[in-house]
Amino acid sequence: MPDIPVLTGQDGARLPAIGLGTYDLRGAEGVRQVRTAVDAGYRLLDTAFNYDNEGVVGRAILESGVPREEFVYSTKLPGRYHRHDLARKAIEESLYRSGLDRLDLVLIHWPNPSRDLYVEAWRALVEARQDGLVAAIGVSNFLPEHLDRIIGDTGVTPVLNQIEVHPYFPQDDLRAANAERGILMEGWSPLKPGLREEPLVIRIAEAHGVTPGRLLLAWSVSLGVIPLPRSSSAERQRENLDVFDVELTEDELAEIRTLARGGGADPETHEEL
Ligand SMILES: NC(=O)c1ccc[n+]([C@@H]2O[C@H](COP(=O)([O-])OP(=O)(O)OC[C@H]3O[C@@H](n4cnc5c(N)ncnc54)[C@H](OP(=O)(O)O)[C@@H]3O)[C@@H](O)[C@H]2O)c1
Repeated sequence: MPDIPVLTGQDGARLPAIGLGTYDLRGAEGVRQVRTAVDAGYRLLDTAFNYDNEGVVGRAILESGVPREEFVYSTKLPGRYHRHDLARKAIEESLYRSGLDRLDLVLIHWPNPSRDLYVEAWRALVEARQDGLVAAIGVSNFLPEHLDRIIGDTGVTPVLNQIEVHPYFPQDDLRAANAERGILMEGWSPLKPGLREEPLVIRIAEAHGVTPGRLLLAWSVSLGVIPLPRSSSAERQRENLDVFDVELTEDELAEIRTLARGGGADPETHEEL
């Protein structure tokens, strides 16, 4: 079993330094795919209400035989349920769908600023934590102004911000803003299409004797970001965990920096419902 480092959030939450992305792993096949990941050593499992697979992830945990307390089961609240009363019901529904008796981590999936309800959603998460439905709470795709508003209005800082991070979109400013506020980071789409075929990624990976996928995940880890690679293959799931002994040099990091070109959806305008 690989030795995965653990990061500690400011509320004391303990998070493995790498997690499994589960988008699109669904049905009986999805349970088998999450099970192989658990067998490989993944203990942080990232799902969402909108992935329609909270039951798959919960079932894989329960069937695995691994002690429940080893896992961080993480889900996300969708935009259509930001209103305070709806948010509480959606969190309860996420819990029922998981089949677990408690959620370990709930994130607001996107801020949806045009609807201006994310502070209400955050209050509902704070209360759900007080009531014991969930152990830790955080956000996803939040920009500094969104972070400051929820912190200012509630006095509660999210344990983490899950954001898009990969060499095409390293997000220096947003990573610095999270770090300044003591907020941990998870990185989504760490294996963004195209990156594994980049000649300089292939060359640096070869220099370290690793695959391009491992190199990209080691790059995320070197930034202090918890990558959430998704794979349906047991072999690639195992490969993706083997990244903690790859040390990138300053020159290699500078070379990888030349790939930066921008990201996907802008949280200021993106509507995720
Ligand atoms: N918060 C948000 O708004 C948000 C948005 C997007 C994603 N996410 C989360 O982040 C997770 C990861 O992002 P993602 O799903 O976009 O994709 P990703 O993890 O960046 O890439 C997944 C793709 O890479 C392939 N792959 C995985 N390991 C590989 C390896 N070692 N070598 C070659 N190919 C490999 C997979 O194919 P195989 O299955 O064939 O291995 C799959 O096609 C999601 O599953 C989700 O949990 C969150």
